[in-house]
Amino acid sequence: ATANIGVVGLAVMGSNLARNLASREGNTVAVYNRSPERTDLLTSEHPEAEFVASKTIEEFVASLQKPRTAIIMVQAGKGTDAVISQLSDLFEEGDIIVDGGNALFTDTIRREKAARERGLNFVGAGISGGEEGALNGPSIMPGGSAEAYETLGPILASIAAVAEGEPCVTHVGTDGAGHFVKMIHNGIEYADMQLIAEAYDLIRRGTGYSPAQIADVFAEWNTGELESYLIEITAEVLRQVDAETGRPLVDVILDQAGSKGTGVWTVQTALDLGIPVSGIAEAVFARALSSKPAQRAASSSLPGPSETVAVDDPAAFIEDVRKALYASKIIAYSQGFDAIVAGAEHYGWDIKKGEIAKIWRGGCIIRARFLNRITEAYAENPGLVALVTAPYFTEAIAGTQDAWRRVVVSAVQAGIPTPAFSSSLAYYDGLRADRLPASIVQGQRDFFGAHTYKRIDKEGTFHTLWSGDRTEIESEGSSH
Ligand code: 6PG
Repeated sequence: ATANIGVVGLAVMGSNLARNLASREGNTVAVYNRSPERTDLLTSEHPEAEFVASKTIEEFVASLQKPRTAIIMVQAGKGTDAVISQLSDLFEEGDIIVDGGNALFTDTIRREKAARERGLNFVGAGISGGEEGALNGPSIMPGGSAEAYETLGPILASIAAVAEGEPCVTHVGTDGAGHFVKMIHNGIEYADMQLIAEAYDLIRRGTGYSPAQIADVFAEWNTGELESYLIEITAEVLRQVDAETGRPLVDVILDQAGSKGTGVWTVQTALDLGIPVSGIAEAVFARALSSKPAQRAASSSLPGPSETVAVDDPAAFIEDVRKALYASKIIAYSQGFDAIVAGAEHYGWDIKKGEIAKIWRGGCIIRARFLNRITEAYAENPGLVALVTAPYFTEAIAGTQDAWRRVVVSAVQAGIPTPAFSSSLAYYDGLRADRLPASIVQGQRDFFGAHTYKRIDKEGTFHTLWSGDRTEIESEGSSH
């Protein structure tokens, strides 16, 4: 046995991760794929990598030094279970199976438990950064046991992206914690993408700028506080001209957004945990709405507003949109971190929020300059109750909220859908409200279902005899 790490599954992500591993000092990489053609392709195209290639899973396992460590890079779902079962039969006590796919964290919890019962280590590791990240340095979010991380940590650190001198990897928490945090990462990714898309739409419809001109706006934004990978690539997408028609590519791409499921999982999980991730939810719903051609076609003649956005000063309007984007982005991250806190509490994970913000600074899809501010906020106050209340962010919102409101008003007046901008603002105003109309909801619940309520001025649980003489009685039940 010569290899200190192995990769199973050599599609693009797996191949790139294997090449990344092989390029780092100290690693000898075993590779295996169910159909050997892919393995041959990888080894013949990259002779520089000196892989230890195997044609059978037995050979692959035999090529690994103990504790054997193998990263599975296959499509999440049944394929993952099949490979885990094969490896589990051949691995021995203390060996480590890593799932680097986008697995649902509850599957990871289940798989970790089963592996542990057999004396094996199972680590669900979220890996972000797409194909390029896998090759040159992703952000890695491993869960699993601390024992497994002792062996795995240095290997992952060797291939992770580096941000401000630190590798973008940390032991997130036990069992499914890594995949949970990767799921929230993707949820935030959805919100970020939708917000950028809304900003584009507002600018285009508000100012009549061409995609190429908007590309310049985004490139400019990318030099300031909004600097991020997603803003950068949006500028590139906007600048692209379709070779066939000569039109901007964005005008040729069908406007129906797909998804592979992680955004939906984030929202489903947040609903179960009772965490309002409204920005993420609106981003998921916006993709769903876009992908309903029949409903959209049937609705295309529905009445719209008589006004359009009256933009007298395009530069001022664009600056307003930039500020609205920044404010909404703060909300999306604040909601995402709320979900992490709730998940950690519910599943018993000790997740360090500041560490998560740190490992998202490089390699991953949501990498952004702004993550430094989140890291600082949690460093200053690890118990921060809502990210948006950290002094830096409170100040940022103070400087942007008027613009944010103007943008949402203009969008509503002009009939431009901005679900993520608008819902983030509604969430913000809900959070800061002195009194919420939830008291009405409680009154209604008590009226029709005797669900009871609490009072602001004394302890206890109360019910009004709505169908009787409407006196109030103290009740045994809870108001929830
Ligand atoms: C990443 C990405 C990656 C993948 C998403 C895309 O962090 O590298 O999030 O995991 O591109 O799964 O998700 P959708 O297809 O659902 O947009």
